[in-house]
Order: sequence, then structure tokens, then C-alpha cells
Amino acid sequence: MTYITLLVIFAIKSIIYYMQDSKIIKEFLKNKPGYLKKGNLKIKEALDKRYNNSFLIEDVKTAKKEIKKELKDERLKSVVEDFTENVRRLESTPFAPTQRKAPKVKLSNNVAPSIQDQEGMHIMMGCNHVPFHHKRLHDGIRRMMMHHYDKIKGFHLLGDFADMNTLSSHDKGRFTAVPGLTLDDEYAECNHELDMFDQVMPEDTWMTYLYGNHEDRHNRWMSNMDNAKTPLLAPREALDLVDRGYQVKNRWSQDFFTLGNDFEIFHGIYFSIHNAKAHLDKLRTSCAYVHTHRIQNYREGRMAAFNIGACADFTSAAFNYATRPMKAQWANGFAINMIDHKGNSNVTQINVNPDGHFWFGGIYY
Ligand SMILES: [Fe+2]
Repeated sequence: MTYITLLVIFAIKSIIYYMQDSKIIKEFLKNKPGYLKKGNLKIKEALDKRYNNSFLIEDVKTAKKEIKKELKDERLKSVVEDFTENVRRLESTPFAPTQRKAPKVKLSNNVAPSIQDQEGMHIMMGCNHVPFHHKRLHDGIRRMMMHHYDKIKGFHLLGDFADMNTLSSHDKGRFTAVPGLTLDDEYAECNHELDMFDQVMPEDTWMTYLYGNHEDRHNRWMSNMDNAKTPLLAPREALDLVDRGYQVKNRWSQDFFTLGNDFEIFHGIYFSIHNAKAHLDKLRTSCAYVHTHRIQNYREGRMAAFNIGACADFTSAAFNYATRPMKAQWANGFAINMIDHKGNSNVTQINVNPDGHFWFGGIYY
């Protein structure tokens, strides 16, 4: 037998042994998934003992990696399938605010969850102005949420989620931006969007809904005595926010929620050119807000203020009031706050292209 033949036989035998060992290791890890959290050496020792063999640590490492990936893909696939199925179901009943999951975590009196329960990913967004929201952006955010389903701990709407165009005092006596649009239509579209977000939210998500100046249109409308005689449903009731599991605050210029130790979220107060600095100067704590439709941040040491942009479709008729230079300053965006085990905030601002696409975690949404 030539040297080359011996070499080929040896290579074939090695491949067979590797395949056999790899199969045994994978079976072992699938049957005892607790070992996936243990070190490679511990797994090797358990395998050696069980099969009276000496497994290679490199083979253990490779098999463990492959099994972890398989399990992750399976989990993601089931989330995606659930999501697709639910979307299909919702689409067959357009704007029906009835397809809800059971309420999420009930937190009394707007008390924040413990830091331990907040550790993870918090999605922050606002100025969606539904039904004038950026549809592609909303879809992208939902896809991103699907991919990070197991990390989501918070979902925070910072105000003006609903446009409430029909209650605009600017349009009194005139048709609204979309002639024929009614408040019922607006609420139906908001419910539809919230239903869709519900589909990609884990059951234990801390959900908050802050009114912005647009939801406040309802408060102002009802403060007129004649209007109050024929009351209209408030966003909190019409969108069934409490039953959905949202903590709701409805005084737009006063209210805020605190994420982690000291990170405040609210609708936005200052409108100046350097509004992020203005917010940090006056509040002296880290924060995120919307309201200006602009993106900005300003940091001083460990404190920072984030103006996180808007999720609205600026090309829609509702924004025809804005001048061209005004719109040139606007930007689509939202933000992620990763809260660590100590309650510290770690914010990533996402700059969204005008067409609604954005990048996050190496993926183009
Ligand atoms: Fe606003």
C-alpha cells in the first residue's frame, strides 16, 4: 500500500470518527440541554464518563455551537410563524380592535417593575401620528422586535402615537387633512397598529403610553362645556390601553416614566435649536423625548439627553401645514435602551432613512 493510500484511508477514518462523535455529542446535548450552559470541559468529562471514550474538546465545542444555533433558529421560526399567522388573521378583519392577546403584566398605580425585571431591551418611540405613521418603518420595527423577542423588556410610546387630526383646533370649521376622516377611523387604525405591536411583544413586557399634545386634543375638546355634553371617547378608553397592559399617563406636559435608575422618558418640552442641551440643563438627568420631529443628543459626562425623532410619514397630507425648511429639519428615528443589571441605561439612537428603512444589529430592516 502506498503512502498516499494510507493517508487517504486515515483521512476517511478520521471523518467517520468525527461524524460519529459529533452525532453522539449532539444527541447528548439535545437530551440534556442543561449542559449547553456549562463549559466545554465539563461536557467532555460527562461524555467520556457516559460513553467510556475520550472525546475531543474541539468536537464538543463545534457540536455545542451548532446545537445552540439550531435551537435559536427553531425558536425564531416559531415566533415568525406566530407573527405571520396573526398578521394574516388581523388583515382579514381590517381595523378590528378586537383581536387582542390576554393583557400583559398588570402593574398597579403606574409603578415601574423592579430593576431585575427591567434588565434587557426597551424600545422607545413617539410622534407616530397614526394614521399618518410611516408604515414601512412600523413594519421594520416589528420585524426587529421579532428578531430580539427574547430580550424585550419594555415598549414605550412617548406621545403623539395617535394624531387625533379630527380634533385639531386648527381645522375647526374646515375639513381635516384627509376629507371624510373621522375620529372613529383614526381610533380604528391606532387599534390595528397596537394589535400588530402586541403580536411581537413578550407577555412580560413593561408597556407605557404617554399622551402627547396630540392626544391632549381630546382633553382640550372635552374642556369645552358644549362638547362635554356629547362626550367623545378618550384615547385611553378607545384604544383599550389599560386592558392591553399599558401604563398610561395623560398630562402631556407634566408626566414622565423613569426607566432603570434615573432615565426619564416624556413627550418633550423644549423646542429650541439646541433642545437636547436645554432638556439636560433644566432636568439634570438623562432622558429621551420626541415632539420636535428632530434627532439630537447632548451629553455631559455620564448624563445625556436624546431627542429620538419621529415615526410619522412626513409626506402625508397631515403635515402639509409644515414649510419646506421646517420639514428639512425633521428626521425619522427611534431608540433602544438596554438596561443593565444595575439599572444603568445604554441608549442607541436609530437614524431611519426617509424611505423607512434602517439598520440595526447588522440587519437592514
Ligand atoms: Fe408633539
